[in-house]
Amino acid sequence: MKPSLTRRGFIQSAAVGSGVLTWLSVRHAPGAFAADASKPALLGGAPVHPGGWSDWPKWLEAWEPAVIKVLRSGKWYRGDGGHVAEFEAGYAKLLGAKRCLATASGTTALLVSLHVMDVDAGDEVIVSPYTFIATYNAILINKALPVFADTHPATLTIDPTSIESRITERTRAILPVHIYGMPCDMDPINTIARKHKLAVIEDACQAWLAEYKGRKCGTLGDLACFSFQNSKHIPSGEGGAVTGDSDELLDRCHAFHNVGRATGSFKGAKPYFTRGSNYRMQQFQAVILMQQFDKLAQETTRRRMNADYLSVHLKEIPGIQPARLPENSRAVWHLYPFRYDAQHFNGLSRDKFLKALNVEGIPCSGGYHEQYFDGLLDEAMNSRGFKRLFSAERLKAWRESFQELKGNREVCAATVALPQNLLLAERRDMDHIVEAVRKIQTHSAALAKATG
Ligand SMILES: Cc1ncc(COP(=O)(O)O)c(C=O)c1O
Repeated sequence: MKPSLTRRGFIQSAAVGSGVLTWLSVRHAPGAFAADASKPALLGGAPVHPGGWSDWPKWLEAWEPAVIKVLRSGKWYRGDGGHVAEFEAGYAKLLGAKRCLATASGTTALLVSLHVMDVDAGDEVIVSPYTFIATYNAILINKALPVFADTHPATLTIDPTSIESRITERTRAILPVHIYGMPCDMDPINTIARKHKLAVIEDACQAWLAEYKGRKCGTLGDLACFSFQNSKHIPSGEGGAVTGDSDELLDRCHAFHNVGRATGSFKGAKPYFTRGSNYRMQQFQAVILMQQFDKLAQETTRRRMNADYLSVHLKEIPGIQPARLPENSRAVWHLYPFRYDAQHFNGLSRDKFLKALNVEGIPCSGGYHEQYFDGLLDEAMNSRGFKRLFSAERLKAWRESFQELKGNREVCAATVALPQNLLLAERRDMDHIVEAVRKIQTHSAALAKATG
């Protein structure tokens, strides 16, 4: 099942038409609720939330001189100035990580991490299927097999109990994804990894400042990857980072992202001691990112406050179940997901519910779909390289194993997800979200009958 919009698409669509709004403020059309507010907007009534939402990303004029200074200096490349290193130190401090390496994107952060953790051609990586497609791609580009563990239907993250049975003699790493900024249950994952001597690489590309048992995501495995792409909570158009506590691993990451040039503990007689690529961040990106450290912290607090409020009120509605977080952890809500049960809505399908909620002025999507059936993995599996690296039996069994991902199928079919910018609005706007869901439930029989 495919969502009506892609993740980035609906974040953009949530922002459309709200260019005049100031940061964190939301405009309401006066008297808009006086119209037939009791009738669903999809059936001709007035939308619950007619005023739009805060646009994204946001930029303050006060930040511009720092960017212009870099522009005029002509020192745009990381080797020509200190901004990227300054950003790395600042981001590491924010997370409580020992080291950070800035990269060109989240995808390149994943490529660097997989390479440094010695994921090589013909290896297998156990990964969450419920993620942005870049996670799959990074493994495939390393000519390794992404072996999907199942998704836990209540948490939407990797189900630790489904990992061990998927380990083979080729498994090198586990790649849990803190999807939507919700921390994975890392303790059992790390225990399994230690037992089987596997690397743990966190995909924290949506989890800036998320916390698990008092520690930030990005400090919970061997290495972790972040994205600063434009839709993200701390954006710079494109950008990424690898974080970790091992100087040796981070020096290796640095070398690999910088054409194999020796750095830190590897600095010695030979300038190029390893293979490498060019995944460097530019000075501009670093300056743009550093301006947003405080904003990220403030907005994270606000998103959490609004998400907590939504969870309290949405779970009172029969058929709506907010996602469950691991004990003692805090999400940052890149998307705010809840589970929708059509049985409590007179059989109104999830897709019709999404349509009805969107028309009420609440941007939403169905999140990720079962993308392993899209053809990407068949294309990889039928490539000359993969056929050389894996036996026909292994590839057949791997392809068949997608059918076993029952938890993931459930999550893909039942999730409703709200984009992060909604959580930057006022309490009154959160009430609109709850009110819109209640209104759809009240009229669900009529909506289920309506076509289109
Ligand atoms: C979970 C996840 N992994 C990886 C990536 C890849 O990051 P980027 O788009 O910066 O390459 C993203 C970005 O959207 C993501 O959300």
